[in-house]
Amino acid sequence: MRVVSGIQPTGNLHLGNYLGAIMRWVKMQDEAECLFFLADLHAITVYNDPAELAAHIREMAAVLVACGIDPDRSIMFNQARVPAHPELAWLLNGTARIGWMNRMTQFKEKSGKNREGASVGLFAYPVLMAADVLLYQATHVPVGEDQKQHLELARDIATKFNTDYDVELFTLPEPLIGKTAARIMSLRDGSAKMSKSDPSDMSRINLTDDIDLVAQKVRKAKTDAEPLPDNMPALAGRAEAKNLVGIYATLAGEAPDAVLGRFAGQGFGAFKPALADLLVETLRPIKARLDALRADPGEIDRVLARGAERAAALAAPTLEGAYKALGLPRGG
Ligand code: TRP
Repeated sequence: MRVVSGIQPTGNLHLGNYLGAIMRWVKMQDEAECLFFLADLHAITVYNDPAELAAHIREMAAVLVACGIDPDRSIMFNQARVPAHPELAWLLNGTARIGWMNRMTQFKEKSGKNREGASVGLFAYPVLMAADVLLYQATHVPVGEDQKQHLELARDIATKFNTDYDVELFTLPEPLIGKTAARIMSLRDGSAKMSKSDPSDMSRINLTDDIDLVAQKVRKAKTDAEPLPDNMPALAGRAEAKNLVGIYATLAGEAPDAVLGRFAGQGFGAFKPALADLLVETLRPIKARLDALRADPGEIDRVLARGAERAAALAAPTLEGAYKALGLPRGG
């Protein structure tokens, strides 16, 4: 089992990012050989301020390590340091069909009414993503539901390449889809996703928030006056309550019904302090590691450079195989 996954570097990571992608990645390290990367070459398919992008790459890498990605056990790097990614992506552009790409719903959403004004990179984005995983013979790719179609495209590209050139070069990757039950919503509005772009900072818990502020945000989180029931279906129509119970359960690694079993009949006056304690307990060590890493930016660069070296070595045979299959001579 070889796991490969990427995440776009953004600033301001919050609890939703942690409980969604990052915590899953951390756990995967016990189950498989893992490669995790910052998809910075995907990030440039829309305009990003260069200085900000550079800062976000380092910040995100530091967050991943602080959250428990172990750069000795896993291979962690940023895409731009491994030229095999864009190289293979170009080779695969000869195999990917325009008709397949035209069906990608994410491109349709992101380009909206202005398809003509979207970058070529945004259109070709899923081919780079296919290269990201095929390069390493990934067997499993943890992604959110929104990326499932891109993974299916990667399988189609792999199959067509293997068939057209009569090789057994690429492994077909299986998506591992995260459960949407763990969707973390805004603390101010249970119907909106927790988001870094919400104008209210009270709507989210940032991984960099001071511990006191975390407790304050939980205290001020929107709720209702009803006591908690003993099962999740009974929370229907109480989006804010459901969200807080979901956060607690995910943090504790418990089923939501088990959490409710303990708090049934009690109100938020009892539940919120318990949630705040659990959050503080989780975030305190993460924040301490993050502060240490931030104090030494050279360390993160060294981690990423070493990860890139290891990734490049692992990618080399597959990339060679692709050039060879295509009849492209290279090297001395
Ligand atoms: N497109 C993914 C996202 O936005 C990020 C990504 C890029 C990725 N390359 C990948 C995820 C390869 C898994 C495997 O979430």
